[in-house]
Amino acid sequence: MILKQRLPKKKSNDFHDSSVLLKSKASAPAKVILFGEHFVVYGVKAILCAIDKRVTVTAETIQERKILIKSDIGNLELESGGKISEINSPLEPFYYLADKILKNQNIGIQINVESDIPLGVGLGSSSACCVAGAAAISRLFKETSKEEILELAIEAEKTIFENTSGADCTVCTYGGIMEYDGINGFKKIESEPNFHLVIANSNIEHSTKSVVEGVKQFKERDENNFSSLCEKESKLIKEALKFLKENNISELGNKASENQEYLETIGISNDQLRKMIQIGNNRSFGSKITGAGGGGCIFAITEESNVTEAMNNFKNENYDCFSVKIDFKGLDTF
Ligand code: MEV
Repeated sequence: MILKQRLPKKKSNDFHDSSVLLKSKASAPAKVILFGEHFVVYGVKAILCAIDKRVTVTAETIQERKILIKSDIGNLELESGGKISEINSPLEPFYYLADKILKNQNIGIQINVESDIPLGVGLGSSSACCVAGAAAISRLFKETSKEEILELAIEAEKTIFENTSGADCTVCTYGGIMEYDGINGFKKIESEPNFHLVIANSNIEHSTKSVVEGVKQFKERDENNFSSLCEKESKLIKEALKFLKENNISELGNKASENQEYLETIGISNDQLRKMIQIGNNRSFGSKITGAGGGGCIFAITEESNVTEAMNNFKNENYDCFSVKIDFKGLDTF
């Protein structure tokens, strides 16, 4: 349901009566990539799940012809119709969306962003922002569908990271656990495996764009090696899908450790992350980096019975860590 003080009678792309102020709100979950990050950029299937941390975006029309964005990481205030390439801010996707939806109308948009997703550490904070932003902003004027919102969100994400595979925005939109590849899109995994994920944060911020660029260079240096790694990853994904359906947590843990080896090979790990993986492996079935790497987070796969032990292991070494549940809802609009 969209909160509107008065519904506009005009169609979405007609000019909007600026005396009618509209408001819409949406929220989207964070994500982890269980298996297949980076390789998914080159067409390999990945397995992702949405987790129970969220960003909420509120969009309101305002009479001033401006785009105002307020968030915990700062504010942005600009005239609409500006050049996207000249905006150097992590809030750029919101500006892109608002400017696109306004289409030179004689009004402005104010956007408020509230998030409990740690930033820039591989948990999909920017994808969740793009999805919730695309929903809140587009639904000011029209009841956009999830498909339309996802398309807008991926366009917005491309303003900060052009080569995105689209995987992160897809899972933030639809929630749950899914397999995803760039050609066939996503397929939900309907079984509900009962593993627990303990996430530990290195607190090293990374830029997905530059880590993905590093992997591209690795690929270009040795195409044969990279294509054999892609084949191994595809095989691993098939096996992991089977273990997910069978709820075989210990084998899923083995697959996580195997996947970590491939991530080490493509150069997205470092000493700090390796230390965290060792701590994770101590009290879980297996652990790996999640997301772009180069910093960010790792997860350890556990059962309910060893979550606390695995968390304590990280806490004893002064790492930020938390356990997450799967978010089955995905995008929510109010
Ligand atoms: C980042 O969360 C995941 C990557 O595979 C990039 C992408 O899929 O767009 C590294």
